[in-house]
Amino acid sequence: MIEVNSLLKSYGDKKALNGISFHVREGEIFGFLGPNGAGKTTTLRILTGQLKADSGEARIMDLDVMKGTREVHSHIGVVPEETNLYERLTIGQNLDLFCRLYGCDIRQTDYYLKRIGMSEEKNTQVKKLSKGMKQKVLLVRALLHSPKILFLDEPTSGLDPASADTIHRVLKELNEQGITILLTSHNMEEVDKLCNRVAFLNQGEIVEMGSPEALKLNYSKRRMKVLIDDGHELVSRELDMDGEESARLVSEWMTEGKVRSVHSCEPTLAEIFVKVTGRDFV
Ligand SMILES: Nc1ncnc2c1ncn2[C@@H]1O[C@H](COP(=O)(O)OP(=O)(O)O)[C@@H](O)[C@H]1O
Ligand SMILES: [Mg+2]
Repeated sequence: MIEVNSLLKSYGDKKALNGISFHVREGEIFGFLGPNGAGKTTTLRILTGQLKADSGEARIMDLDVMKGTREVHSHIGVVPEETNLYERLTIGQNLDLFCRLYGCDIRQTDYYLKRIGMSEEKNTQVKKLSKGMKQKVLLVRALLHSPKILFLDEPTSGLDPASADTIHRVLKELNEQGITILLTSHNMEEVDKLCNRVAFLNQGEIVEMGSPEALKLNYSKRRMKVLIDDGHELVSRELDMDGEESARLVSEWMTEGKVRSVHSCEPTLAEIFVKVTGRDFV
């Protein structure tokens, strides 16, 4: 659905993207993960035709994004980093205007507002909405022309947990209905929970890529946590996964019926990021 090859972009002498390549398959939720300034917004703006790359290739559904084909826009929905709604208009007026400009079916408005739990606010002025509500309106607006691919730039950054949860739920549902999603985030947990595959972006370069599960396995410390009941209380013990001593201990506890649970100690995506880049994730 999305194919990117050796994308380069500089702002003056500041290199924002240093030749990134990746692809996103149909039906995936793909996460672009990186700290501030990594190049996430630049990538998204190039893919959605808002910014020209210096060189490289970007194709969406086999259409060349660099050529600025209008057809691309009929396939993609975009939730930008900054809210760009008309503050003095109501939600309904904003969405109506968008439908008239881009020729989408106005009946979709009520349908999507309902799905995101905002039907009752339809006649509220945008300037009276919380950040979370505005973000939900942006998501509704991005869906009105039934796009096949949804791009979201930090969709839940700075939102209250309830709004973030609603957005996550709707994204999951949309994806189950077949929409391919590319989102950027600096929230590791969000990406871990939502994405089938992630790319770690650091200083304009993709430094690691894969499913969260595969990454965790690759960077596994091969240690496990065993919760045992010693007759008085529950005690947690961390052991190497390999080695005779661990095997002996676990077997002993099992024979004595003391084991309550066993978990592998997986690294978090944040720990993996630090390991790969040598820098903290801020
Ligand atoms: N319009 C611009 N002019 C100059 N530098 C920019 C501009 N936009 C972004 N940059 C720089 O490019 C780099 C990548 O920015 P951006 O893509 O916004 O990163 P992210 O979205 O990951 O925070 C940063 O170093 C940023 O300062
Ligand atoms: Mg950004």
